[in-house]
Amino acid sequence: MLKMKATVFRGKNDIRVEEVERPRAGVGDAVIRVTLTTICGTDLHILRGEYKVKPGLVIGHEPVGVIEELGAGVTGYEVGERVLVGAITPCGQCRACLSGHLSQCGHGEGYEAIGGWRFGNTINGAQAEYLLVPNAQANLAKIPDELSDEQVVLLADIASTGFSGAESGNISIGDAVVVFAQGPIGLCATAGAKLMGATLIIGVDGDDHRLAMAKRMGADVTLDYRTTDVVEEVRKLTGGGADVAIEALGTQQTFESALRCLRPGGTLSSLGVYSGKLQIPYESFAAGLGDHRIVTSLCPGGKERMRRLMEVVRSRRVDLTPLLTHTFPLEKITSAYELFGERLDGVLKVAIKP
Ligand SMILES: NC(=O)c1ccc[n+]([C@@H]2O[C@H](COP(=O)([O-])OP(=O)(O)OC[C@H]3O[C@@H](n4cnc5c(N)ncnc54)[C@H](O)[C@@H]3O)[C@@H](O)[C@H]2O)c1
Ligand SMILES: [Zn+2]
Ligand SMILES: [Zn+2]
Repeated sequence: MLKMKATVFRGKNDIRVEEVERPRAGVGDAVIRVTLTTICGTDLHILRGEYKVKPGLVIGHEPVGVIEELGAGVTGYEVGERVLVGAITPCGQCRACLSGHLSQCGHGEGYEAIGGWRFGNTINGAQAEYLLVPNAQANLAKIPDELSDEQVVLLADIASTGFSGAESGNISIGDAVVVFAQGPIGLCATAGAKLMGATLIIGVDGDDHRLAMAKRMGADVTLDYRTTDVVEEVRKLTGGGADVAIEALGTQQTFESALRCLRPGGTLSSLGVYSGKLQIPYESFAAGLGDHRIVTSLCPGGKERMRRLMEVVRSRRVDLTPLLTHTFPLEKITSAYELFGERLDGVLKVAIKP
């Protein structure tokens, strides 16, 4: 039996790099040798026991690698090709997928909420030397030679998610957009708003490093929620309310502020992961008569999404490499978790090299 090193969740606040069995590709699967991966804020929720996964699971869901093995039935690929795989791996066959809701894939069945998110959630994930990719035909996206691993790794999750916040918000050319929180997801939502043609983008956060990065990713104005009445300031800057507000944190406060910033008929596009109860005060959405839209999105995945995102990078519409602030070998991933979790040293995303 072949072995590999992998990051294993053992229990609350307990992850370890262990030797585990190396996966083999079954029918329709592929195995990739991971060359670069990273840590997501959601992995921190897993580590802290706030999002439950089974002890013994290999975590991580942002893989770049080289095809090591192709299972029967996977065609059009060769061993040795470089591929990017999305954090979300839709089957491409179920009712949800064929209705266009790939992230809510039921893999073979109907719809399953968040069902498309399998890596490091319901099956072994990417913070390892090797990764089994299910439904490989729908999920292996070949990386153009001219793009480096570093240029594409953030497309697997945070860019796909952040951009989808802008896309789901249906931003029109000339829109005024406010983005609540400028963590990795919010920064990508800011970049996404620019790609969609917004002409006034307001980034909100309370961290000077991140506010500076927001400008670099496309924000025209940044607001520090610690020192500014954000809702009032957005209303002033937009002449009465933003066309689209993107929520990229997942709290009652930012959700509510995002809603209060909107003009009548505006759209709140929500990306945050919430817990407990979320409330909507009646005056913030005109008692239900303000023609507001509230939409939510889970990170889109699948090879066509990844191909499109790689084109965005290849055509130089966006450069995400400034967000990769630190690099660690896989053996030192627990130190990377510490740095990332404590937000030390201006960290935004860490490159992990198996
Ligand atoms: N929808 C999806 O598919 C998806 C995918 C991945 C992550 N997420 C979720 O997106 C959210 C953001 O993820 P992240 O990794 O960017 O988070 P993060 O924790 O790295 O960043 C959060 C940012 O929020 C800022 N902040 C805190 N309070 C604030 C306030 N009141 N107003 C404005 N900013 C404030 C912090 O300074 C920080 O920069 C999380 O809820 C995460 O679980 C969603
Ligand atoms: Zn993630
Ligand atoms: Zn499916």
